[in-house]
Amino acid sequence: MILVTGGTGFIGSHTTVTLQQAGHDVLILDNLCNSRPEVVDAIAAITGTRPGFVEGDIRDAALLDRLFAEHPIQAVMHFAGLKAVGESTQIPLAYYDNNIHGSVTLLQAMQKAGVRTFIFSSSATVYGDPQKLPLTEDHPRSATNPYGHTKLVVEDILENLYHSESGWRIARLRYFNPAGAHPSGLIGESPQGVPNNLMPFVAQVATGQRPRLNVFGNDYDTPDGTGVRDYIHVMDLAEGHKAALDYCQSLPQALLTTNLGTGKGYSVLEMIQAYAQTSGQDIPYQITARRPGDIAACWADVTHATQTLGWTARLGLEDMCRDAWRWDQQP
Ligand code: NAD
Ligand code: UD1
Repeated sequence: MILVTGGTGFIGSHTTVTLQQAGHDVLILDNLCNSRPEVVDAIAAITGTRPGFVEGDIRDAALLDRLFAEHPIQAVMHFAGLKAVGESTQIPLAYYDNNIHGSVTLLQAMQKAGVRTFIFSSSATVYGDPQKLPLTEDHPRSATNPYGHTKLVVEDILENLYHSESGWRIARLRYFNPAGAHPSGLIGESPQGVPNNLMPFVAQVATGQRPRLNVFGNDYDTPDGTGVRDYIHVMDLAEGHKAALDYCQSLPQALLTTNLGTGKGYSVLEMIQAYAQTSGQDIPYQITARRPGDIAACWADVTHATQTLGWTARLGLEDMCRDAWRWDQQP
């Protein structure tokens, strides 16, 4: 059985589907601070199997002890956390508590229970402002906001833990920009309030919930002046997690650090155009000032993941837009 923290969230729910379809039993632990319990029904509808679900917090040590005692958990995939960069500058303590204290509490419970396989959601944000592209895993790390700092710190904690005790099998997966949805249209990304990220905002313009998109700057040193990112289909990302789990489980101990991206960058204008074409909707936009803290361009070198995991992203921009649009049209 795999314990999936944050399993009703965007990436956790899609990964749960992939894990179940690969024959794993899944137990989800989620406090629902950024997701809804109906996601469990949707996962059951897609896979034909209902994952276990516990509403609770990763910072609740007694609950964790009980879960590890009562279930045959072999590995943990840890998605639970807060992820809004802007918010993290306003309420940094909540971010440090949830993302760092939460991860430590979870790792302590695992240590006690003798469960030592851990897959962690890191982020390309740990590379800071790229010194060279594409980004390889040995690129220097830095953080410019509390959210990014929590990812750096947990990455370091995991490295310390790995060296402190034999038998840990740890994957630190650095996601680039997840997008898209499950092809069934039953699960996808549902941000609360005003979306921070590009694709959910584009979707809300396409469906008429917002009048237009603000494009944050067109004076970057990129082909069309707008920001370039490596968008990866969330189902490819889910497959990447399964590959990382298989890799860890095949070894007596492991510390894997790898990018999960496609190796290809698209600009904001290219993303708008692709989504408009797939959806058949107009996406009005206006160019506004740069968003503070944004970088010009960021995409992954995927050599390491391909060579180590035998995993590579299969889905492209059209798949991302098509699957996102199917989900985005749901009432
Ligand atoms: P999400 O908000 O959709 O999912 C996170 C889930 O964790 C939510 O369901 C939330 O309710 C739950 N949660 C939060 N704090 C919790 C706690 N203390 N106890 C129990 N449950 C808790 O986010 P996501 O996009 O699926 O991201 C998953 C992970 O991947 C996060 O750690 C995020 O930082 C990381 N990540 C995301 C992106 C992205 O663009 N989506 C990029 C890089 C890294
Ligand atoms: C953001 C986070 C990053 C996090 C990543 C994935 C910031 C500063 N960075 O990165 O830490 O790892 O999400 O969750 O928030 N854009 C617009 N208009 C919008 C929204 C975005 O033009 O309304 C542009 C941005 O300027 C950028 C691109 O679209 O060029 C992608 O933005 P976004 O989806 O927020 O992702 P990142 O900036 O890569």
